[in-house]
Amino acid sequence: MDKYYHTKESVEEYIKLARDHDGNQNIIRLKEFLPAGSDLLEIGSGPGTDWKILSESYHVVGSDFSKEFLKHLQAYFPDGEFADLDASTLDTDRTFDGIYSNKVLHHLEDEALEASIKRQFEILNPDGIVCHTFWRGEDSEIYNDLFVNYHTDAGIRTLFEDRFDPLLIRFYKEFEDGDSILYIGEKKKGQPS
Ligand SMILES: C[S@@+](CC[C@H](N)C(=O)[O-])C[C@H]1O[C@@H](n2cnc3c(N)ncnc32)[C@H](O)[C@@H]1O
Repeated sequence: MDKYYHTKESVEEYIKLARDHDGNQNIIRLKEFLPAGSDLLEIGSGPGTDWKILSESYHVVGSDFSKEFLKHLQAYFPDGEFADLDASTLDTDRTFDGIYSNKVLHHLEDEALEASIKRQFEILNPDGIVCHTFWRGEDSEIYNDLFVNYHTDAGIRTLFEDRFDPLLIRFYKEFEDGDSILYIGEKKKGQPS
């Protein structure tokens, strides 16, 4: 397992580095499709910056697979609800109206990402919405001891197409113009063939 998200020191470092970043520009887009008051699962909440913004509009369950991030989330947001979930298995018996992640699913290899998308379909209520961001590019690399899988818009479209209809796919800037992709999709009716 990648160590970076699992030690106190590196989690504190990440929280400092990410201090000036949030997903608000994408959360504004999500709100066009997911009504206020909906039940939302956030995958990989990390520092909890987006969890806090999302909580202004939704009933949000935050989650992460890192015990260190979960400790941080519970300490900073004592009234929040947080679950220990791995993005690839999403082992929960709850269901949600929406599932959100910001720069999390790029840590999954293709097969694990496919499994995650399948599981997201299963734990979403009818007409459920997914909203995820990815680093844009080709191939994959190990960066800071972490696996990073880059994606193109065509690749993302293909990954989701059996289970979700795209509502919005847009490029946006995290550090440089167009370095990131936002995907918002709606759960298809019926079961995938
Ligand atoms: C780049 S950080 C993003 C954190 C937060 N979403 C943000 O926007 O600042 C990636 C986060 O995903 C979590 N993560 C990575 N792989 C995961 C997995 N397989 N399951 C659940 N969480 C994961 C990490 O622990 C970390 O909190």
